[in-house]
Amino acid sequence: MIIEVSAITPGIGAEITGLDISQPLDRDTIASLRELFTRHLVLVFRDQVLSREDHKQFARYFAELHVHPSHRSGLNKGGDPEIFVIDTPADAKQSNGEAWHSDVSCEAIPPMASLLYVTKVPDNGGGDTMFANMYEAYNELSKDLKALLLGKTAFHDGEIDLRNYGIKLAVGQQYPQASHPIIARHPETGRSLLFVNGSFTSHIEGIPRWESDMLLSGLYDFVATNARLQCRVKWTQNTLVMWDNRCVQHQAIRDYAGFARYGERVSIIDGKPPEPALQ
Ligand code: SIN
Repeated sequence: MIIEVSAITPGIGAEITGLDISQPLDRDTIASLRELFTRHLVLVFRDQVLSREDHKQFARYFAELHVHPSHRSGLNKGGDPEIFVIDTPADAKQSNGEAWHSDVSCEAIPPMASLLYVTKVPDNGGGDTMFANMYEAYNELSKDLKALLLGKTAFHDGEIDLRNYGIKLAVGQQYPQASHPIIARHPETGRSLLFVNGSFTSHIEGIPRWESDMLLSGLYDFVATNARLQCRVKWTQNTLVMWDNRCVQHQAIRDYAGFARYGERVSIIDGKPPEPALQ
């Protein structure tokens, strides 16, 4: 089997061809995919015909399946707890993930990766997803700002994200909250990365709120407006994209009002909470 790799940008993203991921994969192939994942952070596999079980099985080659907190908290009743459905009907007012974020960073141990399989793309040609490299976001900060942020933690609160969708927790319902290092160390590469995002991070701990708001909004703008950090994936029917949720943020572009889009996401968890960077 010959896997072909075509980088989307020098810094992030690669299209992988020559591989049917619904089929059992041998150790060498999985090792190659892990190496490509570490290098490119976002891998795109097109023209894959996957059952739910194929999707999960492919994810399990890398780690255990994660259960989304909407299932654990009882907000999402029924359905498969290991599948997060991203269903945007033509008349939807909102779609999932429209702001830059990493998936459920409010978890004490956020997913290491997410694998989204899109089977229905909007007929107007919209619905792309943006991805941004958080290693490079950290690298591009000045020495002074790095020094200020190193060693600090930020609070991540799942209710912020729920409020964005107009969802309120009922009495007795709980949603995750966690404190994480702002500059984290990737558990596999050891590289430092920026780990705050506008959908889940509420504030920087240990400094006045107005200073936290100022710093966080600057960091969010920097990620959102710096094209050097980013790549854009145009979905085609039956594409699976896998991203490293520890060092990548993403944003779903809602430019398809009046058209439907459907995907299912599986996330995986490696049991390692974000650790502070050393420098
Ligand atoms: C998400 O995983 O947050 C949504 C991504 C997308 O629908 O493109």
